[in-house]
Amino acid sequence: MKPVTLATTREMKRRGEKITCLTAYDYSFASLLDTAGIDMIMVGDSLGMVMQGHDSTLPVSVADMVYHARCVARGTKRALIIVDLPFMSYQQSPAHAFASAGRLMQKGGAQVVKLEGGEPMAETVRFLVERGIPVCAHLGLTPQSVHQLGGYRVQGREATAAERIRHDARVLQEAGASLLVLEAVPSELAKTITSDLEIPTIGIGAGPDCDGQVLVLQDMLGIYPRPSPKFSKNFMQGAASVEAAVKSYIEAVKSGTFPGPEHSFHSA
Ligand code: KIV
Ligand code: NA
Repeated sequence: MKPVTLATTREMKRRGEKITCLTAYDYSFASLLDTAGIDMIMVGDSLGMVMQGHDSTLPVSVADMVYHARCVARGTKRALIIVDLPFMSYQQSPAHAFASAGRLMQKGGAQVVKLEGGEPMAETVRFLVERGIPVCAHLGLTPQSVHQLGGYRVQGREATAAERIRHDARVLQEAGASLLVLEAVPSELAKTITSDLEIPTIGIGAGPDCDGQVLVLQDMLGIYPRPSPKFSKNFMQGAASVEAAVKSYIEAVKSGTFPGPEHSFHSA
């Protein structure tokens, strides 16, 4: 049982083996996902919504992220642990981002930190990477910008917006990002970006052609009390246990049957 590293994910991309990822925020679920064979566990700031009941991810603090990341790290032996930098913990300056990312790694057990944003974040990505902190970038629907985006909506449908995201993806890779999450973008755009880049793309609402897939755990278990996004799927339907649901998600991603057309978006 060799631990999954960033080198493993690059090798998987090269081989065309899909990378599986789910979010988790506590010891028991992390342990269950890890044992089921998930490749990466993401401690997302989605915990503000699914664990804390807020309407957005904006209220989440670094201390919240550290707490949940530590719980997850105790349950994880094999999966690569990616932890979100929350809103207000990294945008102001590279030095501020470095201090926050350091806490996630040192106190939380993060192996990779994730941050949202395009070209304006490139300098920060470079600053972290040059100082030994691996970074996962996140483009498309970036939930920390929900008020600027005017809601949780698909991004990059128009040609100019798509070109902007494609450009940002290249710039973030060039700055040293190791992974790229693409959220709620047309499948065609995600496919193009995936072939543009050497680093793996991890899609959520980004169609079947990304190098990997991620979902929010509470969405794929169908236990979030508010409506789940169209791109998600309830894997508890027809499953005998949580473990079986997680295994069927892993199997569906590995075999390319998830996401299907009903979970995907298209260009305008
Ligand atoms: O916060 C989160 O859970 C995320 C992923 C779903 C990409 O950012
Ligand atoms: Na997030």
